[in-house]
Amino acid sequence: MSGRRLSGPYRSRAAGPLAGTLRVPGDKSISHRSIIFGTLAVGETTVEGLLEAEDVLCTVAAMRACGANINKDGNGLWRIWGVGTGGLTSPHGVIDLGNSGTAARLILGALTPQSLTATLTGDASLSRRPMQRVLTPLGQMGAQFNCRAGDRLPITIEGAADPMPIEYEMPVASAQVKSAILLAALNTPGTTRVLEKQATRDHTERMLRHFGVEVTCEQATFGQAISLTGQVDLKPSHVIVPGDVSSAAFPIAAALLLPGSHITIENVGINPLRDGFLRAIDAMGADLTIRNKREQNGETVADLEVKSGSLNSIEVPPEWAPSMIDEYPVLAVLAAAASGKTVMRGLQELRVKESDRLAAMAQGLSACGINVQELEDGLIIEGEPDLSLRAGGARVETFLDHRIAMSFLVLGLATKEPVAIDDIAMIATSFPDFVPLMETLGAQFEPAGETP
Ligand code: S3P
Repeated sequence: MSGRRLSGPYRSRAAGPLAGTLRVPGDKSISHRSIIFGTLAVGETTVEGLLEAEDVLCTVAAMRACGANINKDGNGLWRIWGVGTGGLTSPHGVIDLGNSGTAARLILGALTPQSLTATLTGDASLSRRPMQRVLTPLGQMGAQFNCRAGDRLPITIEGAADPMPIEYEMPVASAQVKSAILLAALNTPGTTRVLEKQATRDHTERMLRHFGVEVTCEQATFGQAISLTGQVDLKPSHVIVPGDVSSAAFPIAAALLLPGSHITIENVGINPLRDGFLRAIDAMGADLTIRNKREQNGETVADLEVKSGSLNSIEVPPEWAPSMIDEYPVLAVLAAAASGKTVMRGLQELRVKESDRLAAMAQGLSACGINVQELEDGLIIEGEPDLSLRAGGARVETFLDHRIAMSFLVLGLATKEPVAIDDIAMIATSFPDFVPLMETLGAQFEPAGETP
């Protein structure tokens, strides 16, 4: 689409109904994994529909620095010449992973069972995020780490020449931690087992199977055990990346908020461990129709048709959190327009995302005149069904967080006064064409000065 990188303060203003059919960019989780697994296969992997956003391009650059040959051909297909599960080499320079926690944690996993030394760094947001959650299991597998301030980036990893398999019970529900361990297990002799109490997104398991690796998943009383026997070869494959449901959540939310809207988003990944947002808006009374459900590459894909309508508040079951963890900021915007009090709890993990998302949402919503209570592990939001009669008129801080930025731009489409954000630049990490795509549906955005 535009290819233009927006930056600086931006604002959205009240818009008419949204209408049209669109596609959102490729799934971020699946895109990162396709590049890393393609690198660990021997031979040529091709990827269709890769998310070409800053986070994923950091993973591309990192895998190139470790020996993979990765190019985009004239038809938009990404071609990866992999080096094998034990074939990564020490990069010459420092690997910069920008804003991407997924890249940092998954790549630390991939580097663990390799005879190499590498230094990873990131931007101000990523350098604040905790890495101990992966350093503990990867250290048990034999890697050594030298970190800033205990467990923060920059981190230098010394891979393990003789990696050891582990059985690891995850203290947090995190697909990144699970995936880091499974990536390390690929070049580790013996069987590595990850025990998870709450199921987290399983794109790693599904894609490994697609690359010919046997991954077993057993249900147990505590949850489930995922096992992989290492020193296996990955068969190079063709990966088709579906649209990202986490990006789709923004046009969906905007369409729900703006009276008279009717949009269809085609080709969205609706993996059952990623569909919590769709279940939550359904419970709020949203007019959502899931059409043309199909299987593609081991993932479920569908077209989502959404019409505006009034929303009711809900208590979001805490056990839904892993299946919609990135969608809480935009769900909080919908809660601001729902009748009654929406309660979201069990969300301590939101404090260690690209920003402290509980604090960022509470601060921004209350600046916009929404009644919100910040809890240690969640938010209680008192909705105002007709936002167009009040609310808005604030300049919100986004704390280098793309999802906070997009959430408040969506809010400003429905409020009486415009909503401004301090900087739009970070949306390029996951959804570079957010503004032009939303504009084709009828949304209105513009650069903002210092005041809203
Ligand atoms: C991701 C897992 C989630 C999510 C992140 C992407 C992944 O993080 O928030 O945006 O691709 O594995 P956690 O698993 O750490 O919660």
